Amino acid sequence: MAAKIVIVGSFNMDLTAYMERLPRPGETVNGRKFVTGPGGKGSNQAVAAARLGAEVTFVGRVGQDVFAEQAFNIWRQEGIHTDYVIRDANQATGVAPIWVDDAGENSIVVVLGANLAMSQADIDAAAEVIAQADVLITQLEINYDIVGYALKVAKQKGIRTILNPAPAGHLPPDVVALADFMTPNETELESLSGQSGSVESNARSLLTREGQTVVVTLGAQGAQWVSKDAANQIPAFKVQVVDTTGAGDAFNAGFAVGLAEGKSLDEAIAFANATAALCVTRPGTAPSMPRRDEVEALLKTR
Ligand code: RIB
Repeated sequence: MAAKIVIVGSFNMDLTAYMERLPRPGETVNGRKFVTGPGGKGSNQAVAAARLGAEVTFVGRVGQDVFAEQAFNIWRQEGIHTDYVIRDANQATGVAPIWVDDAGENSIVVVLGANLAMSQADIDAAAEVIAQADVLITQLEINYDIVGYALKVAKQKGIRTILNPAPAGHLPPDVVALADFMTPNETELESLSGQSGSVESNARSLLTREGQTVVVTLGAQGAQWVSKDAANQIPAFKVQVVDTTGAGDAFNAGFAVGLAEGKSLDEAIAFANATAALCVTRPGTAPSMPRRDEVEALLKTR
């Protein structure tokens, strides 16, 4: 049976310009190419999880504009359940102007619009589907109180939770305590923990109860997991990088699907690393998410 994943999060229309190098403040540079496409950390994770074979429900808000139509188009194409997506009458769909340089590095601005109008009632409406999920994932492109509420509802129902604390932010400890897994990159780890020590000590400082694990994504170095009394690093796959945008989302989707399918922590992280590796070989965010057979093929090369 397919893994059931519920994602409470954002949709943004990505407006991406590709250029040799990012402009400095006050500078104008020539772009090589401009592309619009579906994005938003929550929706990217939903698309990636669906392509990996999971049954995915997305819980979020968009506006009533043309970008919202494009959101529903990709969700429909990928077979993602959208019964709990609200079309907000007063807010525009989120947008994200993105710059990507020739090394594949990016800078992103998010104008979150309707994503920030999510309410506790939106989560309550999805409570039954949350109760049947294998894993719930949420990120920080919606209001933090909704992040906390979604995690609380999932935990009350005994559902495993992943908090992807992206973009970087600081959450109250009682919200962090609701996450079974936290998946920051190094910058997000410093913001979330308020510490600037080693990856392992920063990660360990977030663990306040039994059963919590921090999985820190380290780009080309792979990912390191840290629990109360153990830690391990799982190497990345070496690939030709075209665009790193969405790599974290691919990783989270792979990790959630791996966990939901009963893989061990190390195996789920290897699966996530392979998903992220394939994502960075292609331009764009949601459109660059790989399919299951591609991930399986890459895993076999190790
Ligand atoms: O993680 C990449 C995503 O961050 C982009 O799709 C953009 O919309 C921002 O949310």
